[in-house]
This record gives sequence, structure tokens and C-alpha cells, in this order.
Amino acid sequence: MRALIAGNWKMNGLTEDARSLAGALKARAEGAQLACDLLVCPPFPYLALVAQALAGSRIAIGGQDCHSTGNGAHTGDTAAAMLRDVGCSYVILGHSERRSNHQETDAQVRAKAEAAMTAGLVPIVCVGETEKERNADQTLAVIARQVKGSIPVGMEAARLVVAYEPVWAIGTGRTATPADVVKVHAEIRRLLVGLVGEGAEKVRILYGGSVKPDNARELLSQANVDGALVGGASLDAEAFWAIAESA
Ligand code: 13P
Repeated sequence: MRALIAGNWKMNGLTEDARSLAGALKARAEGAQLACDLLVCPPFPYLALVAQALAGSRIAIGGQDCHSTGNGAHTGDTAAAMLRDVGCSYVILGHSERRSNHQETDAQVRAKAEAAMTAGLVPIVCVGETEKERNADQTLAVIARQVKGSIPVGMEAARLVVAYEPVWAIGTGRTATPADVVKVHAEIRRLLVGLVGEGAEKVRILYGGSVKPDNARELLSQANVDGALVGGASLDAEAFWAIAESA
């Protein structure tokens, strides 16, 4: 399956940073023969600007969250249809930072994924255990609860992405071992069979958490690792590109 390398810019940068990062990626993409698809998820205020900067390239754009309903009285929220309207084709949902900073529940993430699907966006549903859960040997139980609770039943496999991001590996420079990644991704694949049925093998399962140019190749070569969700390293065009070249 063709890998997806996705950059989650999180809440970083201002106009000039977004413009120059998008411009640098577009310049690298011109004429390049990558073996993966590329996606960037800038902060909301810069989505339209990045969409414009990347026009004519094959780099896709995504939001970092969306609301579970359409237009309405939801101050500060963004509808999936709005993301689609400004050029997004993906949306990250249920990132651990949303789950911990905004107390997002599995049920809310699932409702958002339904809204994203209705709006024509591909949801990237994030799951991952905390360090405490990992130390208590709860990793697979947490993953099972989150996958079953956050992913709507009956999604079209090719239009669903799941990201495994162990919370303790995000922004820490620590990554899960290849053996851990293989174990968790295999479990996610198994759980997907019950959710999307036949097409479960077509769902892309990304790994995220301190993916860098020097560990990307090893992580991306593991079974059931169909790409990466990159935070810090995606803010540097050269590093992000090096990760894409590892796929
Ligand atoms: P880092 O790559 O900075 O660890 O972030 C991972 C992440 O949270 C991507 O969504």
C-alpha cells in the first residue's frame, strides 16, 4: 500500500512560517518521484494560505480537528464542510493533545469522524496509550477501547486512516520499539476487521511519536506501518522531506 507521510504542524508558526514551509515543500515536490503520498495539517488560520501555496502540487492539506455537526452556534469551532471548502481532504481527529487538553471522548471523536466522512474528508483517527497505561500493561486494552469507540462502523476502508501515537513518545524524542509498533499495529488491523469488514487491509495505519529522519526508515519498514504522522520534524522542510524519502 502506498504510504502516507503526514505533517501535523500543531499550533506553530505565523504567516511567514506557513508560507515558507509550504513553498519549500512545493519546490521539493516538483518533479520528485516519491513512493508515498504527502499531507500537511497547518493551524486553521493558515489553511487557505497553504492551500494556495501548494496549488498545483500533489501535497494534500488537512485540518487538525473539526466539529461533529454542520453550521451552527458553536463559537470557536470549525465544521468539516468548512475544511473541505478551503481545500482540505483530510482531518486529524482525537489527537492525544485534544483528548487531554479538551477532554475529548471516544464518542465525540467518532461523531467527528462521521461528520468528516459526510463532508468528504478522510479522517485520521488517533489512538495511543499514556506512559502510565503502558507501564500497567494496558496498551492493547486502551487501543482496543479507543479504536472501537472512536471509529464509526461501516467506514469505507480506503477513506479511513488510523494513527497509533503512544502519548509518551510524542515530542519526547523517544519512540516505540519496532516490536511494540508491530504488535500494536497488528492489533489495530485485527480490530478494524470488525469495523470495516472485508477492506480492513486497505486502511492506512500510521505511526506517530518522535518520527525523525534517522528513525523513519526502520519504523516505516515494519509490518502494518503504512506511513507516519510527524509533529516536530514536519516543521522543517528538509527533515520532513527526508522522512518522506524513507517511505
Ligand atoms: P512529534 O513528532 O513531535 O513527537 O509529534 C507527534 C505527533 O503528535 C503527531 O501528531
